[in-house]
Amino acid sequence: MKRKEFILNTSLAAASFSLLPSGSVFAGTAESKVRIAIIGTGLRGQNHLDLLLRRDDTEVVAICDVDNRMLTMSKDLIAKSGKKMPQVYTGNSDTWRKMLERERLDAVIIATPWEWHKPMIIGCLEMGIKYAGSEVILGITLQDHWDVVKAAEKYNGHVMMLENVCYRRDVMAVLNMVRQGLFGELIHLQGGYQHDLREVKFNDGVNPYGHGVEFGEKGFSEARWRTEHSVHRNGDLYPTHGIGPIAHYININRGNRFLTLNSFSSKARGLHDHIIKQGGESHPNAKVNFKLGDVVTTHINCANGETILLQHDTNLPRPYSLGFRVQGTEGLWMDVNKGIYIQEKSAKPHQWDEAKVWLDKYDHPLWIRWSKEAQGSGHGGMDFYVIHSFIESVKRKLPTPMDVYDAASWSAITPLSEQSIGLGNETVEFPDFTGGQWMYRKPAFALNDDY
Ligand SMILES: NC(=O)c1ccc[n+]([C@@H]2O[C@H](COP(=O)([O-])OP(=O)(O)OC[C@H]3O[C@@H](n4cnc5c(N)ncnc54)[C@H](O)[C@@H]3O)[C@@H](O)[C@H]2O)c1
Repeated sequence: MKRKEFILNTSLAAASFSLLPSGSVFAGTAESKVRIAIIGTGLRGQNHLDLLLRRDDTEVVAICDVDNRMLTMSKDLIAKSGKKMPQVYTGNSDTWRKMLERERLDAVIIATPWEWHKPMIIGCLEMGIKYAGSEVILGITLQDHWDVVKAAEKYNGHVMMLENVCYRRDVMAVLNMVRQGLFGELIHLQGGYQHDLREVKFNDGVNPYGHGVEFGEKGFSEARWRTEHSVHRNGDLYPTHGIGPIAHYININRGNRFLTLNSFSSKARGLHDHIIKQGGESHPNAKVNFKLGDVVTTHINCANGETILLQHDTNLPRPYSLGFRVQGTEGLWMDVNKGIYIQEKSAKPHQWDEAKVWLDKYDHPLWIRWSKEAQGSGHGGMDFYVIHSFIESVKRKLPTPMDVYDAASWSAITPLSEQSIGLGNETVEFPDFTGGQWMYRKPAFALNDDY
């Protein structure tokens, strides 16, 4: 197929999305309940646990963690819910394998530190579990990403990265606008992870956020493991909140693909300065050399001609913003100034409309249908949707709307950006995890109001 024809076909496919409501069952009978386990009931795992406990179609049959404090917090949540206490697995860092062997499971949710995701996903698949939902980041090295893709193919399993930002209300309204052609043909996209994590990367070993400058063994929750990645690695360490939504906008792995990437890193000052300010010059951590540049920018070029700019910015003082920009031949959305501009449709030429007016008008059918259920769930409600999508896929025995190829290509940005920076900002090729199938695969994400 010629490239021009191909682009036409994919945009036709996108334009023909039906947003028709369709029936869905939320409650389940005892036999049809999804039997699920969670590995890693830390702070994120507990969010998922809470959402699962609220569902009548799901039974949490087992949980596993190595940390007693996290397990106690989880057991309290379960007790409060009035649901049956699941089997609790703990002991050492391999006890999760015992849980997978002993329990009859339809699905597993993995919310452990990044380095555990690959072995745990593959462990689930090897045990014949068909659905593995992993928190963001699939693996550490590029080879890890290939290993997960190959295992999913070998065992015919579904691996969904639980990328919740894809379900953010404004992100989904913009998806709706993109699919209805409001922005014209998409040209350039931006996003990223711009979140001051200094009080997440360091704490006092008791409180999860701030109150000290400890990390590693002396830290609690993410300070225990995440900070080490800032010591030893330089790259875009957390690309998926930005790239996930962007990938849906331009049908990555479904008519389009990432072709090449390069990354630049600034100097590293933020984490060291934070330690000095909060812990003093004499604190032992003042001697730590952080490899992660404070601002890492990554450029990606796509098969259909779009460019993407990603930013990773977690060590400096700043308000939270993922910095989305979706720009096409007819107009653009920028989330940081809460503005949308569509030529000949916006109120005044060359002036921003308040984005809210457009976002309300194009609210995605999923949000229209489920916003009551989403109320009170984490991150403004989007956490409900990612779990809902995963569980509904399990119930229907269907592929998850975001699959292992999506997970691998979004998460592989990390090792590729490290590689590019290591090579003096060289442009590196993006692997095609789909083995050429990206040309034929069709969009599957949020096509209706179901899940
Ligand atoms: N999508 C989001 O919005 C979001 C938000 C926060 C965290 N996350 C992701 O969730 C994951 C977990 O982060 P977190 O904030 O919950 O961290 P956390 O440190 O609070 O929790 C991780 C848990 O895993 C447990 N664990 C570690 N090794 C284990 C092993 N071998 N077996 C069993 N349990 C083990 C730890 O004891 C801990 O309780 C990470 O991938 C993180 O990036 C995503």
